[in-house]
Amino acid sequence: MENASTKSAIPQSYAMKGEVLTAIPKTLPFRILPASRKYFAAAAPGSFFGRLFPRETLHFVHSSASLHWLSEVPEKIADRNSDAWNKGRIYCVNSPKEVADAYAAQQRKDLENFMHARAQELVSNGLMVIRMAAAPDEILDSDTKPGEQFELLGSCLLDMTKEGLGSEEKVDSFNLPIFYSSVNDVMAILGANGCFSIEWLQVLSLEHILGDLTVEVATSTCRAVLEELLEKHFGSGIIDELFNRFGKKVKEFPHLLNAHKQGIVQLFVILKRKLHDRP
Ligand SMILES: C[S@@+](CC[C@H](N)C(=O)[O-])C[C@H]1O[C@@H](n2cnc3c(N)ncnc32)[C@H](O)[C@@H]1O
Repeated sequence: MENASTKSAIPQSYAMKGEVLTAIPKTLPFRILPASRKYFAAAAPGSFFGRLFPRETLHFVHSSASLHWLSEVPEKIADRNSDAWNKGRIYCVNSPKEVADAYAAQQRKDLENFMHARAQELVSNGLMVIRMAAAPDEILDSDTKPGEQFELLGSCLLDMTKEGLGSEEKVDSFNLPIFYSSVNDVMAILGANGCFSIEWLQVLSLEHILGDLTVEVATSTCRAVLEELLEKHFGSGIIDELFNRFGKKVKEFPHLLNAHKQGIVQLFVILKRKLHDRP
């Protein structure tokens, strides 16, 4: 039995983290939990687009900076026989409309699956906070297009193939599993689940979070996010050269560094699990 002194030492909450298996070794130490407090902590291996936890067990869910990652690249954009073939690009800026449509459809399906799984796991009145990158609803011609830095990176890969550093086929078969839906589209998908009420919504421009970027920060951020994926497909030999070229190209397109015109916003939403409609 607990006495008063052991009671105060025993944590009353349990922090659980859903992660894809490859990321577990990096995240297991739970470095972000304050060292000054005690927690029970656990990791659930698996994709957050499916079920990770038992029904009606979670009181609070926080998804941070992750839902712009897709569960997979839509198959048809790497299929040369499809009207959505994304030849010569690694993202969907300046691509045929069919490519962006395929990306948007994949994200819709992923977000629907995410919401369906969390609706089962959260207790009634449980809260979910989502912070995710999205595209602003209005994009001016003078603004950076959402994901434009990826377009630039793709053009560096193509330049390299012209100099014999890699093949065009290799670039054609690589596409990023990332998408920025508009804020309106994301909110429509979250709302369509029907099991949650939207309690709070705020959209912040990157200006509030990052300030203006330097070429070095833009380059190293892009490298930190994509290096592992690029290495898997193209091998490690091209990475230094690729990001050297990327840094030089970013200098030619300084609007990419302008926080006022960034084509990406951060969406913060608080949702509450309704009492009824258990899926
Ligand atoms: C940009 S990091 C954000 C990390 C952390 N949540 C934060 O806010 O700093 C994106 C994280 O999402 C994880 N991730 C991406 N797709 C996932 C999926 N389908 N299931 C589980 N985790 C996933 C990645 O492993 C990575 O840890």
